Amino acid sequence: MTDQRIAVVTGANQGIGYALVEELANRMNPEDLVVLTGRNPERVAAAVAQLNRRANQARVEGRVLDVTDGEAVARLAGELGVVDIVVSNAVGPLEPGTAAGEQVDEFVDVANLGAQYMLRAFGPRLRAGGRLIVVASSLGTLEQLPEELWGRFDGVSLEDVEKVVEEWRAAVHDGTAAAQGWPEWINLPSKVAQVAAVRAVAAERRERDLAESTLVASVCPGLVDTRASRPWFDDFSQAKSPADAVQPIVDLILSDRVDPAQYGELIRDGKVVDWKPSTPL
Ligand SMILES: NC(=O)c1ccc[n+]([C@@H]2O[C@H](COP(=O)([O-])OP(=O)(O)OC[C@H]3O[C@@H](n4cnc5c(N)ncnc54)[C@H](OP(=O)(O)O)[C@@H]3O)[C@@H](O)[C@H]2O)c1
Repeated sequence: MTDQRIAVVTGANQGIGYALVEELANRMNPEDLVVLTGRNPERVAAAVAQLNRRANQARVEGRVLDVTDGEAVARLAGELGVVDIVVSNAVGPLEPGTAAGEQVDEFVDVANLGAQYMLRAFGPRLRAGGRLIVVASSLGTLEQLPEELWGRFDGVSLEDVEKVVEEWRAAVHDGTAAAQGWPEWINLPSKVAQVAAVRAVAAERRERDLAESTLVASVCPGLVDTRASRPWFDDFSQAKSPADAVQPIVDLILSDRVDPAQYGELIRDGKVVDWKPSTPL
């Protein structure tokens, strides 16, 4: 029996993931462990080396994890055993002006398959009272899709979400996505699918989790100045730094209490973002 808590964050060698590791380590105890993961060994080592270390903070360990490799995700989950905090955060590059068909595979493999592998591998290993979080976006709500597509993601199982993601990916490749109503910007269906995947997992374990103060949720960091956002927006005057953006997320993660109204939902700055529009479109 140990009091050590273990946190693991994906895509954590830069951006929001890096800031999450830094803040978790600063707020957790010296006996705790925060595992900073990323796909590239040099970038992971450099990130661990540059962390701003405070006295009495948790230990940070770097691990190479390419989230598109489902076996590697399952292996890391097996090695770590029971975990307390899991944050699926990794996202691949997306460039404006490059055809969706040329980018959809890497983007979906990292953001969607990656999140799905994390939910599947780490969900069953979450300690009672743990936190299973996917960094998604306020853009991950049904409102971003035409109403005829809502049923594909609403009230469905994780397997269903996985199937829809593959159908959408195939439609992007065969040029039928627009005719089926899918938005051109592949970030939108991808984020809706991440939030739907979390909702599906949460629906299955809600009762037990709430009895044990365990939280499964997706979060939105808001607009943050990072590599992922820079190509898409001109005005960063309202954007947060990664260090500021992670504060409400870490507050949520380290809170002793789980609000049943937030369980399974998309949370931004401590508030639930409606999955469906509250007034008819
Ligand atoms: N920035 C925003 O304004 C904003 C807004 C809403 C939501 N979000 C969400 O926040 C999350 C983090 O985004 P960010 O802005 O921090 O992005 P970022 O700065 O581009 O960082 C993405 C991280 O994911 C890693 N990654 C890419 N492919 C990977 C793979 N196959 N396996 C493991 N890691 C991989 C990257 O590693 P490399 O360095 O090796 O490429 C990097 O560490 C994403 O889910 C994003 O959609 C961001």
